Amino acid sequence: MTPRTFRLILIAALALVLTSCWQQRKTDAELGLTAHQSAGRRVFDDNCARCHEAYSTRGLQGPSLHRLFKKQYLPSGAPANDERITSTILGGRAKMPAFGNTLSRAQLDALLDYLKTL
Ligand code: HEC
Repeated sequence: MTPRTFRLILIAALALVLTSCWQQRKTDAELGLTAHQSAGRRVFDDNCARCHEAYSTRGLQGPSLHRLFKKQYLPSGAPANDERITSTILGGRAKMPAFGNTLSRAQLDALLDYLKTL
């Protein structure tokens, strides 16, 4: 293989890896999010995404939140409603930290609005 061919293959492989990473992340517009839901997505990205997947059923440190509000029950068995999900977020749970002192009421509202789109 000539060095030139090798470089071309390397660039092609890199491009493939990069595009597959980008494809995984849909834009807010592609997801059809409102401005309020987009704000909630940012709250999610900043506070929840390191432990929870939004669009895949794969668990990270915590269970996947895909279809969170569309299911009847949370992983713990509690009903999947505003009240229980809000208290989980504000108070934390097992290894999940509490966000009661981190999130404002407006951030929490936007976050819940976003979680309902999952
Ligand atoms: C440091 C990791 C971590 C972060 C950050 C985190 N969680 Fe969790 N979360 C967990 C773990 C671990 C569990 C499972 C707790 C258990 O054992 O019941 C969990 C459980 C949950 C549950 C399910 C509760 C139930 O009753 O089954 C919800 C809903 C949830 N998290 C939402 C969120 C949201 C929304 C955020 C961001 C504001 C967030 N989590 C941030 C780790 C995390």
